[in-house]
Amino acid sequence: MKKIGLDVAVIGATGAVGEVFMRVAFERNFPIRNLRLLASSRSAGKQVKYGNEVLTVLETNEEALEGVDLVFCSASSEVSKVWGAWCREREIIMIDDGSAFRMDEDVPLVIPEVNGNDLDAHNWIISIPNCTTTPLVMALNAMQQVSSIKRVTAATYQAVSGTGAAAVQELIDQNSSLSQGSDISTPEAYPVQIAQNVLPHVDDFGEDGFTKEELKMRNETRKILHDYDLPFAATCVRVPVLYGHSEVVHVEFASEVSLVDLGNALSLQDGLVFDDDQTNYVTPLEAADCDDTFVSRLRFDPSVDNGVVFWCVSDNLRKGAATNAIQIAESLLQRGILSES
Ligand code: A2P
Repeated sequence: MKKIGLDVAVIGATGAVGEVFMRVAFERNFPIRNLRLLASSRSAGKQVKYGNEVLTVLETNEEALEGVDLVFCSASSEVSKVWGAWCREREIIMIDDGSAFRMDEDVPLVIPEVNGNDLDAHNWIISIPNCTTTPLVMALNAMQQVSSIKRVTAATYQAVSGTGAAAVQELIDQNSSLSQGSDISTPEAYPVQIAQNVLPHVDDFGEDGFTKEELKMRNETRKILHDYDLPFAATCVRVPVLYGHSEVVHVEFASEVSLVDLGNALSLQDGLVFDDDQTNYVTPLEAADCDDTFVSRLRFDPSVDNGVVFWCVSDNLRKGAATNAIQIAESLLQRGILSES
């Protein structure tokens, strides 16, 4: 008898997010019948474990994708554009981790616990938000149940795994060289050394002195919350942390709020863990390998009316990417948009 499930392709299976995607899919028992692990030609033939199975990575091409029910893509924008167009022509859903389609009007940009209903109007490509946007919006979504949000400012502390597997290796290598007292190799993942350093520079520079990462955070937050004029400014910073993005977020509300009400709303948000002990906090090391977003250190911001500030942490490869993607796929199944055969 033919096994029921989905034939799933992962483009970018050898990358930082691709590997976590497979782990999360296996942990959540996502109904995969056949899994095709795809990457560039450089990785073709590589063996990768999925649960107890050992699968061979294939080069991404039409033959390797033929007949799939669902594609997950985490490679580059160029790769997403090529295979996104291919999927659309064939009416195959592609869940894309990159920024290529996120702001397109006909592309849902989804955090299932926040705006899962946006999945109903898809045009075969569904984007997951940037790994800094997702935890922030989960917190904002909870808080806006208490009072509407007037303004948001944020500073991020982003792990190198957000750049990809090569950046993780570069930080490990730089740390190792420094501890042995030897010179570090010429940096490739970032313009300068990241070990023992902090770079206020994530992605290329865009408009008005903001980086593209900062603009993504603003534009994606507005799109997911359906609040297209929300005043928003962020500074995105890369720190020498392997896994887990952290953020300091200031929020101004339209009316007076209480910390208790905000805390209650945060505690009710699916996928978010709120700690109301103001002296406790969760670090990226503790958040790594968890699917939840953690909010702590919620307090009033005395520099503005009706303002608060808090600390927010999540695993950028899990809720920031792979877990969110699997949850979208699960939601597509629940909504009957995707069916197992
Ligand atoms: P490969 O390992 O063969 O280079 P990361 O974000 O960690 O840098 O990973 C990027 C992922 O995208 C890797 O799996 C990488 O495969 C994959 N990739 C890079 N170029 C292509 C391409 N042209 N087609 C398909 N996958 C690609």
